[in-house]
Amino acid sequence: MNILAIESSCDETAVAVVRDGRTVLSDAIASQADMHAIYGGVVPEIASRKHIEAIAGLADQALGQAGITRSDIDAVAVTYAPGLIGALLVGVNFAKSVAFGLNVPIVPVHHVRGHIAANYIAHPDLEPPFVCLCVSGGNTMIVDVKGYTDMEILGATRDDAAGECFDKVARVLGIGYPGGAPMDRLAQGGDDKKYPFPSVHVHDAPMDMSFSGLKTAAINLIHNAQQKGEALDQPALAASFAGAVSEMLVPRTMEAAKHCGYGKIAVAGGVAANSRIRADLEAACRKTGDKLFLPPLSLCGDNGAMIGCQGYYEYLAGKRGGMDLNAYATRDIKKG
Ligand code: KG4
Repeated sequence: MNILAIESSCDETAVAVVRDGRTVLSDAIASQADMHAIYGGVVPEIASRKHIEAIAGLADQALGQAGITRSDIDAVAVTYAPGLIGALLVGVNFAKSVAFGLNVPIVPVHHVRGHIAANYIAHPDLEPPFVCLCVSGGNTMIVDVKGYTDMEILGATRDDAAGECFDKVARVLGIGYPGGAPMDRLAQGGDDKKYPFPSVHVHDAPMDMSFSGLKTAAINLIHNAQQKGEALDQPALAASFAGAVSEMLVPRTMEAAKHCGYGKIAVAGGVAANSRIRADLEAACRKTGDKLFLPPLSLCGDNGAMIGCQGYYEYLAGKRGGMDLNAYATRDIKKG
């Protein structure tokens, strides 16, 4: 079964062709990051316009790379939530027109479910149940993946997503957008104990997280140093900050894994590329004996292949969208 998969929830337009869930025939991506870098963050209206410009060409590219024609497409999968509403609507409406024209079903896919599915592409032996730490620019949650389409949130951020914090701190440091990867590079060799950050716990919700205080603490530290004319040890700041973010994510993920007892942990989303978080998870899993599944860096960020993969499992579960399919800026992963 060939699925044409469309992703446009934020600042990447992506179209892929995925066969039978786990075989990626093509994965065409157009990033708008350069455009948003001028403003230091995603400008929603620009994102929508750029998706409109790119999407049809990418679909042709994806078909060409896959070596198939339109008549070989059996279904269209599309990210319909969560994300920037205008950006999502571009993908949803394009998917509707393709599905209508080819008379094939539309399968709506939850973006974070798609990130989780990136692990199925990377690890052919991975099957639910497992616990997944989902960390991206817009979402941070620990998910009990009971089945391919049966999920429960065990813990989530109460405020900012982890990726957003990396981006905002990087912006104040002036090292570029999106800031996660440059922060990661800057942190290499930095003293991660030099700048202590507050350790935050959410009362009565041990697996929930909070990042806004960490972000503010880092930004205040940078501004204070600038105002006093003091030199800032940037690698140490980046390393200390990555350590604090990891300290928020990794022990909670391990606690969730212990609670579920599956012995399998996966990681998903753009921040899953972070070297400190990956290393800390590896060390923690060595201790507990849990099997760790890390996606390759190419599948951590937004892409169409992950939507095609999850779309296949949603299709098998009977999920369909009609011509009245809408997009949603927020939506519970449990509902899909
Ligand atoms: O999954 P993604 O591409 O888009 C969303 O669905 O949000 O994630 C993008 C986020 C950005 O905040 C980016 O700075 C962050 O992932 N990111 C990283 C790294 N690479 C990307 N954060 C920390 N360390 C990295 N190496």
